[in-house]
Amino acid sequence: TSNLPIFSQEEVTKHRSLEDGVWVTYRGSVYDITEFVALHPGGNKILLAAGGALEPFWALYAVHNQEHVLEILSEYKVGEL
Ligand code: HEM
Repeated sequence: TSNLPIFSQEEVTKHRSLEDGVWVTYRGSVYDITEFVALHPGGNKILLAAGGALEPFWALYAVHNQEHVLEILSEYKVGEL
């Protein structure tokens, strides 16, 4: 429940480069993480998830399974799927 827009997966998929913006999805929400890419402690690996879901990557890299990581992510929310 938010006043943010709803995006299609097709729209999210258009955003997978620093030029076009880097968007990801997580649990039904959409995030524009373009500005976070350069700040990511895991470096450019973050771009593997560009235009798609974080879940499969975060399942592999359990370091993200922490409250403070979700707090960072929440700052970049732009809408819902
Ligand atoms: C580490 C955030 C996506 C790979 C981290 C850490 C944060 C973070 C905060 C440090 C955690 C800690 O040490 O307490 C994020 C956010 C993401 C994202 C907000 C998405 C918006 C990804 C993706 C991958 C990835 C998609 C892999 C494909 C890694 C790795 C580390 C890491 C390997 C460990 C770096 C190290 O300690 O050497 N991430 N991450 N991350 N991330 Fe991400």
